Formats: sequence, structure tokens, C-alpha cells
Amino acid sequence: MKTFALAMTGASGAIYGIRLMEQILNAGHRLYLMISEPGRMVVSMETDLKLPASSTAIQSYLTEYFSARDGQLQVFGKSQWTAPIASGSNVPDAMVICPCTSGTLAAIATGASRTLLERAGDVMIKEQRKLILVPREMPFSGIHLEHMLRLSRLGVMIMPACPGFYQNPESVMDLVDFVVARVLDQLGVDQSLLPRWGMEDLDDRD
Ligand SMILES: Cc1cc2nc3c(=O)[nH]c(=O)nc-3n(C[C@H](O)[C@H](O)[C@H](O)COP(=O)(O)O)c2cc1C
Repeated sequence: MKTFALAMTGASGAIYGIRLMEQILNAGHRLYLMISEPGRMVVSMETDLKLPASSTAIQSYLTEYFSARDGQLQVFGKSQWTAPIASGSNVPDAMVICPCTSGTLAAIATGASRTLLERAGDVMIKEQRKLILVPREMPFSGIHLEHMLRLSRLGVMIMPACPGFYQNPESVMDLVDFVVARVLDQLGVDQSLLPRWGMEDLDDRD
């Protein structure tokens, strides 16, 4: 069992984060979750989930919703500095910010660390552990692109919410799963959401 941290911020595409959470929990891993206040708002606007306000209540709600084991999912508040992820002495195996706003991207790129979510990202970078950002914006400005380049040069993986269409998607969830599957692959979490390239049409040989 691995321990992952997932941060959801207020970008469109909350369903990416929800699907990722579901897959990590279903695979039996421990998950630390942080949701910004705009993130909570976007979840309620874009999905059927109605997240309560407090992190304790969100933890109970999502534990029941995903039928997670007791303690498998821990939700931390914005100023919960006693959380394990606030310190480099107790880092998770990897952290994903999905979806990631341009605001949180800027905070991570500049080491702002004003909230637990931002601090956790900063800790992953300073400890040189795996940090994945799934930014969502259209178009990206030069500022966004500079922040992404700066982070990429530090080893942060930038995986924009850009689904491919070569799998002939039939539904919105197919597009969501394209992005989520690629993130799960990077985390080393087994997934069967997306067929692997080159493994489907073995009869298609010369
Ligand atoms: C419905 C909705 C969709 C949004 N979509 C995006 C988006 O795709 N990308 C983005 O960077 N910000 C988006 N925003 C704006 C952010 O939520 C806002 O900048 C917020 O301050 C980000 O805070 P956070 O990074 O702490 O979550 C959206 C806001 C709303 C209400």
C-alpha cells in the first residue's frame, strides 16, 4: 500500500480529481486529500457531489461515497499544519494537484506556501519527490507557461488536462479516463481505464 496526496483546486474539471480519487482508493492505497474552497465550489457546480464545509465532514462523506476503509482517506484543512504532508519528514509517495488552477500553479512555482495545499507542493519539490500538476486553463498566458517551465525544470511533471482522441471516445467519461489513466500510470497505480497503445489490434500486422 502506498500513500498519495491529492489536491483539488478551483479549476474546471473537478471530475478528473474525483475519478482519480476513486481509482486510488479502489486500488487500496491511502490518500491524503486537500480541497481549496474554490475547488469545493467547482465540485458542487460540475458534479453531483455536494461536499460539506468542514474537512472532517468531507472525510466522512467521501469515505462513505467511495466505500473506503476507515482511515484510508484523510482530508486536511487549509491551515492544518499538523498534517503529515506539512513536513519533509513524512512525505507521501507522490502528490497530484488535479485539477490545478493558474493561481495554485503560481503559488507552487514561487514557493508561496500560504496554505497546507501549497506547502505540501513545496515540500514535495524540496524533498525531490514526485509532484504532478494537472493544469486547466484556456488559453495559457505567458505567465502560466513560464510557471510550468520553471516547475518542469525542477522535475515537477506537468500533465495538462488534454485528452487524446485516438481511442475513439464515446462519452465524456472516456475523455476523463484518458487523462486519469495517464496520471495513474505515473503514480504506479494499476489501472484498466485505457487500453495501452500497441496492445489492441494485434491482427493489424503486415
Ligand atoms: C466554475 C469555475 C471554473 C473555473 N475554472 C478555472 C480554470 O479552469 N482554471 C483556472 O485557473 N481557474 C479557474 N477558475 C478560477 C479559480 O477558481 C480562482 O482563480 C480561484 O481563486 C483559484 O483558487 P485555488 O487555486 O485556491 O483553488 C474557475 C472558477 C469557477 C467558479
